[in-house]
Amino acid sequence: MRTIQRNRFEDLEIAPASFGVAILNKEKFLEVLKELEAITDLNLLKIKMMALKGGITFPKRDREGILNIDSNGDTVSLRKDVLISELGQILEAHTIGRAKYYLKRLENGIQKIKTSKINDINLLRWKEYDGIITDSLWVLDKRDTSGAHLGWYWGNFIPQIPHQMMLRYTKRGEWVLDTFVGSGTTLIECRRLGRNGIGIELNPTVTQNATELVEREHNKHNVTTEVITDDSRTADIEAVLGKYGIKQVQLLIMHPPYYDIIEFSKDRRDLSRAENIDEFLKMFGDVVDNATPFLEKGRYFALVIGDKYSKGEWIPLGFYCMNEVLRRGYLLKSVIVKNFVETRAKRNQKELWRYRALVGGFYIFKHEYVMLFKKKGRA
Ligand SMILES: C[S@@+](CC[C@H](N)C(=O)[O-])C[C@H]1O[C@@H](n2cnc3c(N)ncnc32)[C@H](O)[C@@H]1O
Repeated sequence: MRTIQRNRFEDLEIAPASFGVAILNKEKFLEVLKELEAITDLNLLKIKMMALKGGITFPKRDREGILNIDSNGDTVSLRKDVLISELGQILEAHTIGRAKYYLKRLENGIQKIKTSKINDINLLRWKEYDGIITDSLWVLDKRDTSGAHLGWYWGNFIPQIPHQMMLRYTKRGEWVLDTFVGSGTTLIECRRLGRNGIGIELNPTVTQNATELVEREHNKHNVTTEVITDDSRTADIEAVLGKYGIKQVQLLIMHPPYYDIIEFSKDRRDLSRAENIDEFLKMFGDVVDNATPFLEKGRYFALVIGDKYSKGEWIPLGFYCMNEVLRRGYLLKSVIVKNFVETRAKRNQKELWRYRALVGGFYIFKHEYVMLFKKKGRA
């Protein structure tokens, strides 16, 4: 008997890794889990669990009918690799108490949904969200150029930034405001993830291009995405939101010019045209002041910013901006350090920069920041 069980177990170990979805007959699966929970002998529980795991991994072995979906049946879709690993965890439990704890957890994940106030992550199935980054160091090897994300705009951010922010800090159908919309990366991501998005951009030509690009992204969740041309320091955000019958947004994203690193226009209202750092910080602060009343209390503000060099000195622009935000009723939640995805131009100049760094005693910029703030007060 033992030998047979071991052989079956080895079969499971060499099974091809599958990251597909297991669609199960919910009622039947819960019934089987309940039966397992009633077992008091750990070995017997493991033998039955092995059979269950076998049936899910190799559908031909599904004697319980867990994979049989009748036309009126209620189904549950689970990530197959996560489910198999959870069943494996039960098989490895050393005590019956532990095994039952894991069983109950699996059952809860199927029957219930537990989310926080600020996103749709089902905490009872948190293992399925391994695409959501929780570390403060982001090393991304390439930008997402799928769909309408073309990456044509010099000074844009990679779509993974608004993507991660929206998944962590908004629920589907909520509203996002981006006060420096540029090529519309945030709004394209809004369409993909089913969030409504309002963007403000100073340069009318850039607004026009962004609008066209955003329109190219299929609006499968039927959300609102609008780019308006205005100065974010003074734009009438109340009126813009009022058009859609809302008073506040649930996520604020800002990716301002990194002072004068890229001159975005000749317009004196453009933050990249500030006379000096003090004026840049004043202008940035004015944008924060103008937008803050329209962010719901307890919600998040993501600031994407980098530092710069000037006359042989490292200027901590990111931290200066952080201080501006902290003076305005926000808590600092995280400072994420993100690598720069290398562009072709930079790659070509690599050796020159390395030489300059060795001569000048400095380090070459390879990172920028995603700073996360929470508006004080309860939601
Ligand atoms: C770093 S870019 C943003 C890029 C954007 N995240 C993207 O992915 O394309 C900054 C943008 O802010 C705009 N800008 C500068 N000053 C502004 C102001 N006062 N009001 C609104 N937009 C402004 C610039 O025209 C530029 O497009």
